[in-house]
Amino acid sequence: MNFPQSIYIHLPFCLKKCHYCIFQVHFLGHSPTSSLFPSYLNRLADEISHTLNNYPKSSDKLPLDTLFFGGGTPSLFSSKELFPIFELIKKHYKINEMTEISFEMNPGTFSKQSLSEYLSLGINRFSLGVQSFNEEMLKTLNRGHNLSQVIESIEILKNMQSDKKFTVSWDLLTNLPYETDHKKQIFEFLSYINKFQPEHLSIYSMILEPESVFYQKFGFREEVFPMPNQDFCADQLEIIHNEIIKAGYHHYEISSFAKETRFFCRHNELYWEGNRSFFGFGMGATSLINGKRISRPKNLKKYMEYVENLRLGKEKESKGLLIEEEKGKENVKIVLMGGLRREKGVDLKRFGIEIRQFLTDFSENYKDLVEIGADGWMKMKGIKGFLLCDEILARIFVEIDRKALKF
Ligand SMILES: C[S@@+](CC[C@H](N)C(=O)[O-])C[C@H]1O[C@@H](n2cnc3c(N)ncnc32)[C@H](O)[C@@H]1O
Ligand code: SF4
Repeated sequence: MNFPQSIYIHLPFCLKKCHYCIFQVHFLGHSPTSSLFPSYLNRLADEISHTLNNYPKSSDKLPLDTLFFGGGTPSLFSSKELFPIFELIKKHYKINEMTEISFEMNPGTFSKQSLSEYLSLGINRFSLGVQSFNEEMLKTLNRGHNLSQVIESIEILKNMQSDKKFTVSWDLLTNLPYETDHKKQIFEFLSYINKFQPEHLSIYSMILEPESVFYQKFGFREEVFPMPNQDFCADQLEIIHNEIIKAGYHHYEISSFAKETRFFCRHNELYWEGNRSFFGFGMGATSLINGKRISRPKNLKKYMEYVENLRLGKEKESKGLLIEEEKGKENVKIVLMGGLRREKGVDLKRFGIEIRQFLTDFSENYKDLVEIGADGWMKMKGIKGFLLCDEILARIFVEIDRKALKF
């Protein structure tokens, strides 16, 4: 059994609930700290030590490839609060400047001082949840920050980059409610992108989730005003692709753009590989260990109880883990789902001969959208292919389920 070389840590607290979000998060209202932080961090530390102490490994510490703090809003935690978590991980792994350590931040929740303290922990990649550069839209989304806080946060990061080595990514959202002008939003994005030149961008098309406030409370429905229709979304993605490339970025995955290959997010690349093991810790987090996807309880109380049982050695009582085994065709689907999202595609040599032949024949039938290179990698063709990736995957999956292929 290989010892996973990547870790995801979930810090599930936010100031307020964004109207589109269905992530497992505990809301704090206006107070940026909570009496729950110490107990959550203690349980998190217990879970990490218990898991890493009990996982079979060689006596030599392995290098940690990637560490990702996601949320929620990790930047609500101070470096002092997070220090013990780093020390714990260092007991089991070698962490050096080659380790990609990402940290999600929300505008308005950090200062020059706290950024410099995060850097002292070794964090070297900050992902800022900008989402929009439009004051009204930030309100519509119910973000916990306004436009001047976005700009102030971007400036704090940019100014610190002049004497410290780290990279910055922005999260942006498109296809938002009340959007009617294709170009307005992207040109808003571009004016800030060209000015501040973040190394990486994640540009997500907003998904109207049935459990979201937009859906439940506001009654928004797909393709019905104020939600944009499918043609608008497709045109928007095509404009974004063309304009962000013109601004000097590489479109390396459906939602991801980077100035250079060295700025690709290695942690996300691990997810898109589909079958490389990683540890996930914290409420609602998922690990993938040798083909088993293991998800923790999605509620704070249940997560705390689960870890308490682990800590007391009551393994059998520490229920709450959802375990799904991915093998055979499930694994092929996961690998294709991650692989075809990426510009470089998926190496068909990872599959058995029958599935390879099936995918080769399939690609022949969809020549204008899918291609297989001389190197044996299957990929979506250009932006048109990217746009229709989900559609193509759905057709492949129907065939995979229908045929009794050997994987
Ligand atoms: C879970 S959030 C964590 C980061 C941080 N809390 C924030 O919101 O800025 C990670 C990213 O997921 C994206 N996201 C969340 N809900 C989404 C949705 N319904 N559709 C598309 N993207 C979404 C947002 O762009 C967000 O930056
Ligand atoms: S800040 Fe991020 S995680 Fe928190 S509610 Fe908003 S989108 Fe969800």
